[in-house]
Amino acid sequence: MSNKLRVLLTGGCGYIGSHTAVELMRAGHEVVIADNLVNSSAAVLPRIEELGGKKPAFYNVDVCDKAALDDLFNRESVDAVIHFAGLKCVPESVEKSTLYYRNNLTSTINLLERMADHGVNYIVFSSSATVYGEQDTMPLREDMPTGACTNPYGMTKHMSEIIIRDAAKASDSLGAVLLRYFNPIGADASGRIGEDPQGIPNNLLPYVAQFATGRRKRLFVNGNDYPTRDGTCIRDYIHVTDLAIAHIKALEFIVGKQGHEVFNIGTGNGYSVLEVIEAFSKACGKELKYEFAPRRAGDIPTCYADPSKAERLLGWRAERDLKRMCEDTWRWQSNNPMGYGK
Ligand code: UD1
Repeated sequence: MSNKLRVLLTGGCGYIGSHTAVELMRAGHEVVIADNLVNSSAAVLPRIEELGGKKPAFYNVDVCDKAALDDLFNRESVDAVIHFAGLKCVPESVEKSTLYYRNNLTSTINLLERMADHGVNYIVFSSSATVYGEQDTMPLREDMPTGACTNPYGMTKHMSEIIIRDAAKASDSLGAVLLRYFNPIGADASGRIGEDPQGIPNNLLPYVAQFATGRRKRLFVNGNDYPTRDGTCIRDYIHVTDLAIAHIKALEFIVGKQGHEVFNIGTGNGYSVLEVIEAFSKACGKELKYEFAPRRAGDIPTCYADPSKAERLLGWRAERDLKRMCEDTWRWQSNNPMGYGK
């Protein structure tokens, strides 16, 4: 197999998928995108082309759809798959648990079966630090126990990990990498692509960014009585471009191998909610007036990675700091206050 790969990205129009598509193309690889646009916009496609220099092949396909995925694999010869597609809203997963289990597990199983049928041997999976649940010690290492997740979304990530791991164990050809993302934020330095959540953002950074443009009227800090240095939760925020590059390293690692490997993808540094708001204030040049509000259900006080395994085996480490993450988020948000094409 040549060094140049042709890679199928499920969910390739989403936030992390679109940034990975661009980085793959910048590194000389080819990209095929499958996305049903349920939580993303086709308006990202010309921007991926603009940044990556080539129009990616695009299929409006639900990864749960067996016939549609068969058709895609019949038309497109790909070397590997990166599986981003999935529902990801934590509170919605509590309300609609069976929808989350059906969608996120059916898609993973269907993808593995179609890959086997069509002789595609390599997969990188979008997992999450949420699989660790609440642990007594930090930083989190890949060999710590997983599965005590606090919500169905997290369980679907944990269960997909097991499904992929067992498929790799049973196969004499499948190679799989499970990437446990910490908290991806930031945007491509061009400001042309970024995170564009539908409705009111659940996650901190997109909310803060929309507050800074005036699209959201009040900024709430959920909980200031956690056992942390300033009472607010600590997370390991990682620039989405560093995360995208980690997928390329994961592909380079697994292509030609059989089996499975798990990696944390974080910086190893934790920042509190107040520290993030402070950094974002500097980046956007505005004071951001926040209000303290009750804790959010299911939040853990502190979560950050030990990313040393990825550095050791993938030769990857995060290079962009919190200042850069906030500056790049702000460039995207201020240039595209209503996201894509609205
Ligand atoms: C959340 C998900 C996690 C998912 C990750 C994706 C939950 C419980 N967990 O992680 O499963 O993988 O997103 O990035 O939803 N905060 C505020 N005000 C806000 C929004 C958030 O104070 O308006 C606080 C939260 O209480 C939390 C911190 O900011 O302490 C980070 O929140 P968020 O960005 O949602 O990330 P996680 O909760 O770590």
